[in-house]
Amino acid sequence: MSKLAIDGGSKVRNNPMPARGLLGEAERAAALAMFDEAIASGVAFGYNGPQEERYGKEFAELLGGGFADGVNSGTNALFCALGALRLEPLSEVICPPITDPGGIMPVIFTGCVPVVADADPRSYNSSAEEMAPLITERTRALVVAHIAGDAVDMDPVMALAEQHGLYVVEDCAQAHGAFYKGRRLGTIGHIAAFSTMFGKHFCTGGQGGLVYTRDEQLYWQERQFADRGKPFGVAPGSGTVGNVIAGINCNLDELGAAIGLAQLRKLPDIAARRIRVGNRVRDALAGNPVVQVGWQVPDSQSSYWFLRLHLELDALRVDKAAFCAALAAEGIPVVVAYRAIPAEFTWFREKRCFGTSGFPWDCSDYRGPKEPVARIGQAIRAVETHFNIQIHESYGDREAEDIAAACEKVAAAYAR
Ligand SMILES: Cc1ncc(COP(=O)(O)O)c(C=O)c1O
Repeated sequence: MSKLAIDGGSKVRNNPMPARGLLGEAERAAALAMFDEAIASGVAFGYNGPQEERYGKEFAELLGGGFADGVNSGTNALFCALGALRLEPLSEVICPPITDPGGIMPVIFTGCVPVVADADPRSYNSSAEEMAPLITERTRALVVAHIAGDAVDMDPVMALAEQHGLYVVEDCAQAHGAFYKGRRLGTIGHIAAFSTMFGKHFCTGGQGGLVYTRDEQLYWQERQFADRGKPFGVAPGSGTVGNVIAGINCNLDELGAAIGLAQLRKLPDIAARRIRVGNRVRDALAGNPVVQVGWQVPDSQSSYWFLRLHLELDALRVDKAAFCAALAAEGIPVVVAYRAIPAEFTWFREKRCFGTSGFPWDCSDYRGPKEPVARIGQAIRAVETHFNIQIHESYGDREAEDIAAACEKVAAAYAR
């Protein structure tokens, strides 16, 4: 057995991993064209214009039809997706346990109550089984997040929602280009939110997001909510005057849309490259008794925002931190703990949302529990038994082989 690098042996990988290089000439040309036009015409580029129209149309086409609206962050994409549903205040919305805070906080700002479901013990994602016991007469929507690009098992989620008359919102912030039973993630629930900030599969610049739905009515309601209640989709003669609901301004701008359009055309290739790397590591480690790519729903295809690896701790002589340190010493960048559990954070536990009011939980009209409900035991266990390796589309077969070889080497050295 070869000596571990952490013990002075030679490293599996000596070269740094390739840089990402997400932005290139196409995006530069798109941005410069916007400036050229603005300078020539004397009119600054704005928002809700032709770039965004094309961008939304092409995004929807990629997802097989439907409607898409560019917004200014993934957090606001979820906010606007929820806003489209026109939920009554104090409705309960079941939320995922492992996610970015921006994957839960928008529930609060639509005046609703987040109820956090646990994870399927094999993954970072929630499941119908974990959500079902949390449904009450106040529940109106289920938010599911496809963390790391790994699909939630959507058929049971949709069946549960149908049984109780609930909306399903897919948070696809990490899951562009991923599939579930041949269907693209984002097309299965009633409405979906995507993040296009610079670290995601594709971007609209530094920040951005997108809301997608196949339901035209929800689309117009989302557009209204995302832009101060402007009467998008309202038929003339409907009797309304001016803006039809209260909302804030979550618009994407034309520059972001132009960059997003150039990026979107790269998305199929980006997703395919990530899938090739992730699947190669998954297949290489398939029979390993210590370390494997984490369980994925059968007949799904992750788009690997990162690689989630499972450690069989009972089969190891060392703990996860020591395993990860040895892996890092082999030249593989490792994230030891993906502790993205918003229900553990101060704002949630201490109900710090609207001053000291404790709203929504402490609102006298709310009939549910006064302390936030969060089942996160299995989510914590999932975080403790997994670690992440960041991968991206500039990785190739060599990087996949190195990741797998380093995992095998450390696993062999530390196996009981
Ligand atoms: C699952 C999930 N939801 C929502 C968000 C929020 O997106 P943004 O950072 O674009 O606001 C993120 C960001 O990483 C996320 O991973």
